[in-house]
Amino acid sequence: MTSVGVLGATGAVGQRFVQLLDGHPEFDVSVLTASPASAGDSYREAAKWRLDTPIPEDVAETTVRATDPEEIPDDTDLLFSALPSDVGAAVEPELCEAGFVVSSNSSNARTDEDVPLVIPEVNADHLDLIDVQRDERGWDGALVKNPNCSTITMVPTLAAIDEFGLERVHVSTLQAVSGAGYSGVSSMEILDNVVPHIGGEEAKMETESRKLLGEFTGAEVQYHDAVVSASCNRVPTLDGHLENVFVETDDDPTPADVADALADAPTLDLPSAPDPLIRVFEEPDRPQPRLDRMAGDGMAVAAGGIQTTDTGLQYNCLAHNTIRGAAGASVLNGELLASEGWL
Ligand SMILES: NC(=O)c1ccc[n+]([C@@H]2O[C@H](COP(=O)([O-])OP(=O)(O)OC[C@H]3O[C@@H](n4cnc5c(N)ncnc54)[C@H](OP(=O)(O)O)[C@@H]3O)[C@@H](O)[C@H]2O)c1
Repeated sequence: MTSVGVLGATGAVGQRFVQLLDGHPEFDVSVLTASPASAGDSYREAAKWRLDTPIPEDVAETTVRATDPEEIPDDTDLLFSALPSDVGAAVEPELCEAGFVVSSNSSNARTDEDVPLVIPEVNADHLDLIDVQRDERGWDGALVKNPNCSTITMVPTLAAIDEFGLERVHVSTLQAVSGAGYSGVSSMEILDNVVPHIGGEEAKMETESRKLLGEFTGAEVQYHDAVVSASCNRVPTLDGHLENVFVETDDDPTPADVADALADAPTLDLPSAPDPLIRVFEEPDRPQPRLDRMAGDGMAVAAGGIQTTDTGLQYNCLAHNTIRGAAGASVLNGELLASEGWL
């Protein structure tokens, strides 16, 4: 078994990591970290478990450590990070320098030139950027990122549609409250309401999408030429980001061509990889967050409402933001790292 740790294990994404890693066929959780306020408490005390499956008994009495390289045993093979991005920016490079491989969900460093930003089914080859990173930074460890939750919902569909020549993408999101973390959005702000602004989210979607869809030359990632613009909205659903996507392509595919391309998106033989990657609905009112966020155990993307308009294609897509959009994405990157011999 591969010995793994979870950094920021008590938060919304950290708890998902612990849930997804419970009973994992390859990974065994040996280290849990959080803020100095939680260090020294048992995981049960510190986490205030909020998921709808019981807290895994294997880790419930584990003592939470401070998030510090000196606190991590040398024989930990892989660290999953769910740290706030400012904390990740400070600690993750120190961990990589100390020799640890970090599969991180935090938003820092996602667009650094030598940091692989990976969705395994879309751009697994970008992982080879680790060689460039190690050369440039002199690290024995490595830093690999998964994208933002709203980006990861849309990009598998764009990767499938790219066979028709992706030119322009406009997306409007309806994002669940869990995407902001446990203390992110107050109930007074979101109940009976929609907030048409999520700080920094639009820029992340626009940039990360083009990096993910870009080409790795062996030395760098050349971003995809497509123009991507996003409008991001917080809505009062608990989990599951729904997105309305408008796409202009070189070719003029029919809705049936697009449905086939989405349904045929490649899948991988990794423990957390869903099959199919994209579940395509014919019903015009699907996907919906409450009904479809757990497709493929929360790791699939759901798509539907495919139609052509005067300006091109239109469809809706959905993914579970703390599973495929966060912890599950990092776990899948960890499985890819293990299968390709990077650990
Ligand atoms: N929620 C989502 O859907 C989602 C999706 C994609 C990406 N992300 C990213 O994932 C990361 C975590 O998000 P979240 O929603 O899980 O946040 P969260 O619920 O606020 O959890 C934050 C975690 O970080 C720990 N932490 C806070 N300050 C720390 C410090 N100074 N040193 C060490 N650990 C510290 C917290 O520990 P304590 O319990 O001790 O405070 C907790 O374990 C963020 O970078 C976020 O942008 C979130």
